[in-house]
Amino acid sequence: MIYEPKNHFRLGVLAGISDHVDQFLTQIEKYLDQSVLPCCSGSRSPCLTLDLQHAAAGIRTHTQLHMPQQEKRAAAHFDFTGQNVLVTGAGRGVGEEIARMFHRSGARVAVSDVAVEWATQVANALDASGVTAMPLALDVRRKEDFENARDRIAQIWGRTDIVINNAGYAKRTPTQEITPDEFDDIVAINMRSVFFSCQVFSEHMRANGQGRIINVTSLAGQNGGTVASAHYAAAKAGATMLSKYFAQQLAGTGVSVNAISPGPIATAKGRLSDDQIARIEKMVPVGRFCEASEIAAAAALLASDQGGFFMGATLDLNGGLLMR
Ligand SMILES: NC(=O)c1ccc[n+]([C@@H]2O[C@H](COP(=O)([O-])OP(=O)(O)OC[C@H]3O[C@@H](n4cnc5c(N)ncnc54)[C@H](O)[C@@H]3O)[C@@H](O)[C@H]2O)c1
Repeated sequence: MIYEPKNHFRLGVLAGISDHVDQFLTQIEKYLDQSVLPCCSGSRSPCLTLDLQHAAAGIRTHTQLHMPQQEKRAAAHFDFTGQNVLVTGAGRGVGEEIARMFHRSGARVAVSDVAVEWATQVANALDASGVTAMPLALDVRRKEDFENARDRIAQIWGRTDIVINNAGYAKRTPTQEITPDEFDDIVAINMRSVFFSCQVFSEHMRANGQGRIINVTSLAGQNGGTVASAHYAAAKAGATMLSKYFAQQLAGTGVSVNAISPGPIATAKGRLSDDQIARIEKMVPVGRFCEASEIAAAAALLASDQGGFFMGATLDLNGGLLMR
């Protein structure tokens, strides 16, 4: 049966009906002498529209929820106006995309990276005047860099509301060739960083009575990784556990800690051969890499007011590589 707008009669139901939707549908069912299947409903609906589709075999019906324009926009685009966000590793890749998303959504963004020249480029592109975006030199291996970032943001913008621990580094080294120094460095960038960031910012946020910490981990930290090395996979697993640990400590204080666990991201394509890209695309059930914007969207949800019930969660963005 083809959906043809001309075959539909639209019955507008005014605001305030939401509490009586069931009653209303029952009346319609009696009138039509067949059941009405809502394809979308919601108790907070300010306006419900019922479409009646006529067809040779009889009348099939469905309902649609129509939100006012303003609500539609809010659903598609979270509003972070007045919030101050720190993103690590924001000089390029996923971090840059997350910084752009928050800035676009009204936040002031501290764009940090160990490569401060990259952070500066991104921050200037967002706001060259420096009023709503600032670059920060932040090496996530150094606890004092997190403390400096917290103090600098407090000095300029008042407080930090949202921290995205995105910086990470994967080195693909055969297991037998990993040295103690390399192991320690990978753990420092991918896991110890999360601990010290959470340590520094959770106290700051707890004192403010609100805050969101989001850690970008990896599928490698859940399944050992298909392409990642042992130290990276172990460090990301540790970062996932730290997200839960801090979430337990902070639950009820207004501060949440969660993780996003991506599978292969398109930002990695530049570092892979065509053969490797094709192999990964074949391996991922949805047949493609994750886009950086999809990770930014997950970060927006976790950071939003509507995401306040996520606590110690790991959002899997892996295209079906790991279902649990
Ligand atoms: N690319 C992938 O396929 C993939 C898959 C799963 C998870 N991840 C994770 O997603 C996050 C973002 O990945 P990406 O693809 O954008 O990486 P990327 O390499 O493109 O960018 C990482 C950024 O982090 C910065 N950085 C590196 N070491 C740092 C340090 N010590 N201190 C501060 N900044 C540092 C880099 O300068 C760079 O700007 C990382 O945590 C990564 O481990 C990536």
